[in-house]
Amino acid sequence: MINETYKEMLGKKSVIRSLSEFATKRGTEIGYDNVFDYSLGNPSVPVTENFTKVMINLLQHENPMALHGYSPTLGNPAFKEAVASSLNRRFAMSYKPTHIFPTSGAAGAIAHALRAVTKEGDEVIVFAPFFPEYIPYITGTGAKIKVVKADTKAFQINFEEFEKALTSNVKAVFINSPNNPTGIVYSEETIKKLADILRDKSKEYGFDIYLISDEPYREIVFDGKTCPYPSKYYDYTLSCYSFSKSLSLPGERIGYVAVNPAIPEAETIVAMCGQISRGTGHNCPASIIQQAVAKVIDETSDLSVYERNMNILYDELTSLGFEVVRPGGTFYIFPKALEDDAVAFSQKALKYDLVLVPADSFACPGYFRMAYCIDTEKVERSLDALRKFVKTEY
Ligand SMILES: Cc1ncc(COP(=O)(O)O)c(C=O)c1O
Repeated sequence: MINETYKEMLGKKSVIRSLSEFATKRGTEIGYDNVFDYSLGNPSVPVTENFTKVMINLLQHENPMALHGYSPTLGNPAFKEAVASSLNRRFAMSYKPTHIFPTSGAAGAIAHALRAVTKEGDEVIVFAPFFPEYIPYITGTGAKIKVVKADTKAFQINFEEFEKALTSNVKAVFINSPNNPTGIVYSEETIKKLADILRDKSKEYGFDIYLISDEPYREIVFDGKTCPYPSKYYDYTLSCYSFSKSLSLPGERIGYVAVNPAIPEAETIVAMCGQISRGTGHNCPASIIQQAVAKVIDETSDLSVYERNMNILYDELTSLGFEVVRPGGTFYIFPKALEDDAVAFSQKALKYDLVLVPADSFACPGYFRMAYCIDTEKVERSLDALRKFVKTEY
């Protein structure tokens, strides 16, 4: 007999994927250049030339057995060392390589982090709006997802609702800053307040509540700012990172879990991740990618295009009367739709070849997401369509 749970999931296709498929199909009719596809969060800038050189050099000169062989269960030592020292340098942390576990992107990191600190039936808090994949990420472990309503004023944390939700059944709290879909970066004040509440409640309940910090957009921050590093503020933090967005490597599946060294069992948690891999079959990423990334650890692709695109869209959206909080990072913007039903709003936008994602599946109805990881020239061309759409329909 086949598994009914996964069979049922087939009927719940991702809205983002469906819209992206629509855009591709429409592209075959009018040319993809004429479809203003703001659906998918796929990086639009290439990897650095240096990364390509490093890969070529590895392929030409490295021992093929080491390059294409299995990596150690707990990861390539050079990768772990490079990650630990980069985090220590940048955020004044004290990671050792033994606190780092390489994974297949952020998705892999989250799969390990969740299983390491929760068990079946535990509750995990997420803050709306959130990346819809959090539902399978969390429920797939047997844990239960508990959603805290959005703070739609600033898209920081709705602390009133959070404190109500933080009962003794909650074993982990999930955050994502810079955030998909809002583009908001949590302020230091938000992170400090969150950390204080977690410390107080951990004391009250007699166990440590874990913070799982999903950080694939950590490097995409605007206005010359940096994103506060949550693990600096709360010891019981597992930081889940990915090179998918910062180095434009989503297809290579490379990321890591960094376990805060202040956790008494930090090294045990990393060792447990090796055991979790055995059960999920989600073993270490390819040796060649771990070796290559170790050599370019502090490099990013040219991320400036995202800030340029954000500014163009933010200015246009506000001048058209949209209610929107200015993103501090990522390549997403999250305006309020011009009618209550964001699904209907997004359907109407399709008539103008504008592909906008309604935020119902992000647990924030009435809003929509634009993923502006596309060429600036296309963003500029889309403005006419946006104006025409708003003026004609509203
Ligand atoms: C918020 C968030 N978390 C996790 C992921 C998964 O990232 P990865 O491709 O590194 O697995 C994504 C991908 O878009 C994301 O937006």
